[in-house]
Amino acid sequence: FEVTWDVESAEKGGYEHFMIKEIHEQPKAIKDTLSPRLGVNNEIELDNIKLSKEDLEKINKVVIVACGTAYHAGLVGRYAIEKFAKIPVETDVASEFRYRDPFVDDKTLFIAVSQSGETADTLAALREAKGKGARVLAVTNVVGSRISREADDVFYTWAGPEIAVASTKAYTTQLVAMYLIALNMGIKKGTISKEKYNEILEELKTYQQKVEKLVETKEQIQELANRQFNNQNVFYIGRGIDDHVGKEGSLKLKEISYIHSEAIAAGELKHGTIALIEQGTLVIALATQEHLFDKMLSNIKEVKARGAYVIAVAKEGNEEIEEAADAVIYIPNTLDELTPILSVIPLQLLAYYIAVTRGCDVDKPKNLAKSVTVE
Ligand code: G6P
Repeated sequence: FEVTWDVESAEKGGYEHFMIKEIHEQPKAIKDTLSPRLGVNNEIELDNIKLSKEDLEKINKVVIVACGTAYHAGLVGRYAIEKFAKIPVETDVASEFRYRDPFVDDKTLFIAVSQSGETADTLAALREAKGKGARVLAVTNVVGSRISREADDVFYTWAGPEIAVASTKAYTTQLVAMYLIALNMGIKKGTISKEKYNEILEELKTYQQKVEKLVETKEQIQELANRQFNNQNVFYIGRGIDDHVGKEGSLKLKEISYIHSEAIAAGELKHGTIALIEQGTLVIALATQEHLFDKMLSNIKEVKARGAYVIAVAKEGNEEIEEAADAVIYIPNTLDELTPILSVIPLQLLAYYIAVTRGCDVDKPKNLAKSVTVE
């Protein structure tokens, strides 16, 4: 069956913009995507996706392809699948994948991530992979979309209609999808212990509340936005999954506020970008990963020494960061593996409030479309 979302009838429900409404809808979107897939003993039911142990044993590589925000979810997907299912993963943007004569065959699992399910480049990449014999799994938010129809299997994110051009709840539900797919593969292959698997799922179940709590930090973020809306350049730094989330935060900011921003792996700073840091440059430093924390601390000190104003995102209880950064946004304490679903929330809010302060048309930024159906 086919569902088409009616833009006209979707209302802002008292919010000033669709984007902020959709940011607030994330706790529900996460729950709606997660809970129907979880059985009483945490068994994951991936709809009708038949990825048996035998199928998984045949797969020697996963390729995740997407555009924009969905690509950023794919980066976290790579981390999760490699970590839990121990299969090598490549994540690529669709417009690049298509033209590089990718190495794909019938032992490849190809995952297309697309909110709309209609993005031309993602669809073309899917066809290319299918033509080479790959098994194709789509992660999409729109039932009956072209990508959902052409894939062998579909995982639907139940984010509900997303109207704002800048994607928020689609992204967080794509992350949930990635974790569920990775955990499901891992438990079937025996590459993750039952304890770890349960620990992660139990933690995920708390995310509806944790995201709710985070959205309530909006006043602190609004205050930061009121002071930091006039920058020429903003840099996002992080390591590992923090870097992936930084890329999403940076995209949000540039899409809707038109401030130039870049996200770079913090370790790469000294290979170029640090040359651009001067007095007052805003740097958003994500430091949620325990094993990378000391490294991040040195990166923060490096940019501070050149005059940067640093807003850090860290886990609750981390006091050390307060001495290093100018401002700290805390996310609730959680497992390091899952932080992206939480750490992206303040970045969405920051981009939103900066864009509002600058008087931008938040829901319909110039030159951008919700769904890019031309190549
Ligand atoms: C456009 C939208 C983005 C989106 C990207 C991919 O650029 O503005 O928000 O992330 O397309 O769209 P998809 O529907 O394939 O996820």
